[in-house]
Amino acid sequence: MKKALISGISGQDGSYLAELLISKGYEVHGIVRRSSILNINRIDHLLQPGEMHGESLKLYFGDVTDSSRLADLIDRIEPEEVYNLAAQSHVNISFHEPIHTSEVVALGALKMLEAVRKSGASHIRFYQATTSEVFGNAGVSPQDEHTPFHPDNPYACGKVFAFHQVRLYREAYGLHASNGILFNHESPRRGDNFVTRKITRGLARIVAGRQNKLALGNLDARRDWGHAKDYVEAMWMMMQQASSDDYVIATGKSHSVRDFLDASFGLLGLDWSTHVVSDPELLRPVDVNEFIGDSSKARQAFGWEPRISLREMAREMVITDLLHEGIDVAQFGL
Ligand code: NAP
Ligand code: GDD
Repeated sequence: MKKALISGISGQDGSYLAELLISKGYEVHGIVRRSSILNINRIDHLLQPGEMHGESLKLYFGDVTDSSRLADLIDRIEPEEVYNLAAQSHVNISFHEPIHTSEVVALGALKMLEAVRKSGASHIRFYQATTSEVFGNAGVSPQDEHTPFHPDNPYACGKVFAFHQVRLYREAYGLHASNGILFNHESPRRGDNFVTRKITRGLARIVAGRQNKLALGNLDARRDWGHAKDYVEAMWMMMQQASSDDYVIATGKSHSVRDFLDASFGLLGLDWSTHVVSDPELLRPVDVNEFIGDSSKARQAFGWEPRISLREMAREMVITDLLHEGIDVAQFGL
């Protein structure tokens, strides 16, 4: 049975990746941060109540800033595949917490790589969660593996550092280490303070009469939004290739925040403009105007394609959040 170790397993992608790997027969091991309340809501359905070590999923407390713990875990688990998904992944928060963000995003990735290298297990394959944010306001569209990096926030700067460490470990030590340069991907498990989930949660609360206004920042920003379920499949596919490489994963379509508002409020026949208010606090010192990715390399190398459209994803997110508010979705024909 193959063993995989995932950092960031309690996050959106970690939870879908754990499900995917378990469905493929893997024994999945995950690193979770110790917090005063156990923060494993997205993966607790894969375990018995109160359990940390289930049959196909085993969790360990740890932190990617703690090198010695990472080395212990790699030695103890002896994984074949390591997925480094841990991050302070919120772009705007990275402006407020640049040092913490860099410690996790940049040094955390390097510490994971070092733990793998020092274990001496040269067969271990390594996946790094790189991001379209490395391109920033690149001025080149669409972005692919040849687009120059122009990181426009502390989070993206940390990811550029990590990207190059991965490339270096591949070239210097022969490690099977790949960068998945993933564009935005969302789901009903998306964190509440990312724009898509903030919109679908806000919409559900408006319908439930629990809030009337939805405060947002830049509505003109355009993103290449896919579904997290499709994107974790690309991570796994990348790891199955004979040699490691860097791949862009994207839908190739870009939509504005306004388009996402239309798609979600429109499902219920509501006009978002009567609810959305502008909050200057939510504007970033620098924002990226538009991302749009070209994932031809991944499509040709291993046949990856996105399956779930933006409309289908918005629908799934809206339905999940309405149900969470106890609203009968049938009244909207959903
Ligand atoms: P997410 O939901 O924010 O999850 C981040 C995960 O990292 C959580 O499990 C979090 O644990 C964990 N974490 C944070 N700091 C840590 C630390 N010091 N040590 C160990 N774990 C730590 O992010 P996501 O959307 O799943 O994204 C997964 C990865 O892909 C991230 O690296 C992100 O930067 C990258 N990425 C995401 C997207 C996207 O659109 N979603 C696009 C490109 C790249 P807690 O649950 O305890 O907070
Ligand atoms: N979060 C947030 N909250 N964003 C808002 C809001 C708001 O109230 N109003 C407008 N936006 C705009 C942001 O300014 C940005 O242009 C866009 O909506 C998307 O913001 P987020 O959903 O926070 O995502 P992101 O694009 O900054 O970052 C996500 O995608 C990256 C990949 O490109 C994160 O998942 C990153 O970790 C990931 O690397």
